Amino acid sequence: MSATLIDGKKSAAKLIAECSEQIAELTAQGITPGLAVVLVGSDPASTFYVRSKSKKCKELGIHSVKLELPAETSQEELLKVIDDLNNDTAIHGILVQSPPPKQIDEAAIIAAIDPAKDVDGFHQVNVAKLVLEDSSGFVPCTPMGCQRLLMDYGVETEGANVVVLGRSMIVGKPMALLMMAKGKGANSTVTIAHSRTKNLSEVMRGADILIAAIGKPEFVKADDVKEGAVVIDVGINRVEDLIDDRGYRIVGDVAFDEVAPKCKAITPVPGGVGPMTIAMLMANTVKACKQITG
Ligand code: GUN
Repeated sequence: MSATLIDGKKSAAKLIAECSEQIAELTAQGITPGLAVVLVGSDPASTFYVRSKSKKCKELGIHSVKLELPAETSQEELLKVIDDLNNDTAIHGILVQSPPPKQIDEAAIIAAIDPAKDVDGFHQVNVAKLVLEDSSGFVPCTPMGCQRLLMDYGVETEGANVVVLGRSMIVGKPMALLMMAKGKGANSTVTIAHSRTKNLSEVMRGADILIAAIGKPEFVKADDVKEGAVVIDVGINRVEDLIDDRGYRIVGDVAFDEVAPKCKAITPVPGGVGPMTIAMLMANTVKACKQITG
């Protein structure tokens, strides 16, 4: 089978164009959406993501505040930053890059963010709204991006067996909730599998749609995938590569070269889910701005 390559850059560009139209409408009313991105410490991957998010805001005309705080920032200092952003009327979206350094209680930080500005969709109120299928809430950007890719490529999700590999709060759990919800691009039968799942390979082979978000380089092999499955690879893993100038290369959670020939469609890494996450963050920021100012 020759797999369709699911082009995340193309889908993301479409979504960004939709955001751009909505931003123009807001600008015409004298409103500029604002996003604050907070990074504590200088983890290289997190620094890269935060800068990419700020850059995309600038391209789109979203007011962007990038706060790069020292690694030794205390819980109290970070809570104060969040409080200031909650009260800043120019800011409609707040994102604290995960994971923070060890001294930070991440759950308490997320709980301190105004749910109306929680464009990551991590706050309890937004998690509950996802469970309740209340569309006024914010859904985490990566799973929303995965769902949008499936929809853009006309993948049948209705009644499909979806296996989500990974149970994180950022991807696995919200991904499962999105796919089991009622509606377009959803209505699926969902299994969450993870590192402790028995007969994991067999479970993955039952998937019509396999969404890999386990954070282990090239974990999913050809034998784990059913012929004709659709595979969405959320993984962004650095592996040593002495031939590459950077000394590393990025691979997904799926062994692409051996899995792709079995698939109906598959996302590449990079260029698959990654660009969708940033585009969805822009979409959530515009949504927050409209809800707050509307
Ligand atoms: N770290 C990895 N993915 C994400 C994300 O979507 N949001 C935040 N805040 N941190 C992350």
